[in-house]
Amino acid sequence: MNPRRIDIYYETIEGQTAAVAQRMKARLEQAGHEVRVARCRDTKTGDIEQADIAIVGGSIHAGNHHTRVLEFARQHAALLSSKPSAFFLVCLTAHSGKPEAPGIVAGYLETFAQKTDWKPRVSKAFAGALLYTQYGFVKRKIMETINRKEGGETDVTKDHVYTDWQAVDAFADEVSTL
Ligand SMILES: Cc1cc2nc3c(=O)[nH]c(=O)nc-3n(C[C@H](O)[C@H](O)[C@H](O)COP(=O)(O)O)c2cc1C
Repeated sequence: MNPRRIDIYYETIEGQTAAVAQRMKARLEQAGHEVRVARCRDTKTGDIEQADIAIVGGSIHAGNHHTRVLEFARQHAALLSSKPSAFFLVCLTAHSGKPEAPGIVAGYLETFAQKTDWKPRVSKAFAGALLYTQYGFVKRKIMETINRKEGGETDVTKDHVYTDWQAVDAFADEVSTL
């Protein structure tokens, strides 16, 4: 194994993308790589230049990518494309069993690619989390209403984490060999 310096840049609203980034960090460090996890907003061009491999992650809210992740990928598209790089997305549609769900998730990935001009070698969507106990009153109500309509989980006394951690590990393994 050739140890690499692997950076993971992300933004998160409720914390699940951060949890996915930390899981990747643990997996990659276990394999002997040097890993740095940072918010996109705290990352400078010089940081990215030092990385052998760059991973960027963000989540979907109301059908939209996190603005700071989009801006980051747009601003650094050429630098990111010049090295092995990967993008991951966290959303609840990736957990849905509805027949239209894979098309919607593919659309999220496609929109990101179109809006940024960054060409990651690997892109993947992971199921996120429904963190009812951590939402404020209004957000909890909105998410409960949506999930009642969509046939999702409506027990607001609990958090529901759908992320497939094995899939996250597999993604980290794949990216480390790019
Ligand atoms: C207000 C709100 C709106 C959301 N809208 C979408 C959406 O349009 N599509 C989707 O797939 N997931 C949606 N989600 C699910 C989030 O992507 C999911 O909870 C994810 O784990 C959030 O990641 P983060 O905590 O890193 O921001 C929404 C979640 C919330 C709280």
